[in-house]
Amino acid sequence: MTVTFKHFVSADQVDNQTANELIARAEAFKAGATASYPDVYVSNLFFEPSTRTHTSFEVAEQRLGLKVINFDPTHSSVQKGETLEDTIRTLNAIGINIAVMRHPQADYYRELMTISDTAIVNAGDGAGQHPSQMMLDLMTIHETFGHFEGLRVGIVGDISHSRVARSDAALLTQLGASVSFSGPAAWYDDSFASFGNFVGLDELLPQVDVLMLLRVQLERFDDVERESFTKADYHRQYGITEARAAQLKPEAIIMHPAPVNRDVELASALVTGPQSKIFTQMHNGVYMRMAMLEKVIQAQHNA
Ligand code: CP
Repeated sequence: MTVTFKHFVSADQVDNQTANELIARAEAFKAGATASYPDVYVSNLFFEPSTRTHTSFEVAEQRLGLKVINFDPTHSSVQKGETLEDTIRTLNAIGINIAVMRHPQADYYRELMTISDTAIVNAGDGAGQHPSQMMLDLMTIHETFGHFEGLRVGIVGDISHSRVARSDAALLTQLGASVSFSGPAAWYDDSFASFGNFVGLDELLPQVDVLMLLRVQLERFDDVERESFTKADYHRQYGITEARAAQLKPEAIIMHPAPVNRDVELASALVTGPQSKIFTQMHNGVYMRMAMLEKVIQAQHNA
């Protein structure tokens, strides 16, 4: 893929310099910097449920002074059989400059990037990529430790269904962090091997600087997986209980893209505990999404 930000869809667009520039810009927005792009029209197309990503993109858009045109797939002509390509062609014809999109199909954006001038900003594609979550996670880690080189990051949980695991592991290793995976061994496969090894939870916990938990995505389970899964068993075998959290270094942080299945991936009391950065991640998401949208707007203006 050519590194250009006409669209922002995947971790593999982001080299280390770009990652650091985006973090610096997001930190500047958090410190009070402002920018205004009142001629830009943006629409948020969420074909999967979302609380954080949808809302924080919209807040980011409002803070940048963009004109936000709402789009609800359940009340659009998608219900009458309109294809995704025709939806984007239609929004382009109407004058939408940026489409922020979440869709259950991995790689949904490939065709869409070629059919019109409307920029695609990927807000999550199936088990593919989640670049804005990746960038806000990087910002939160950078804000805590000031660097990535040499950090030990443990990614634990439902990695097989996780676009966050794929995006974050790619950038963290590129930036010099060391990534390991844990949770149910059956959820680890060769596609993760280039980013890090699988390690048992008790071995992992005392080593990590960042414990990144992942939601068990029950909605993506097939019938066999659903049949054999219980939340209580998962919590007992792989959940971060208060006893397991005591194995962490005192300065280690707990992250989770959320929503958290309380008392499944993480004991409920730890969600807002002193080592948790979960709500800081959400707060940082607004500033990072401002930085990402600005990057796309600048690429459009320079095209
Ligand atoms: N982390 C995340 O993507 O949350 P939402 O599904 O609520 O947007």
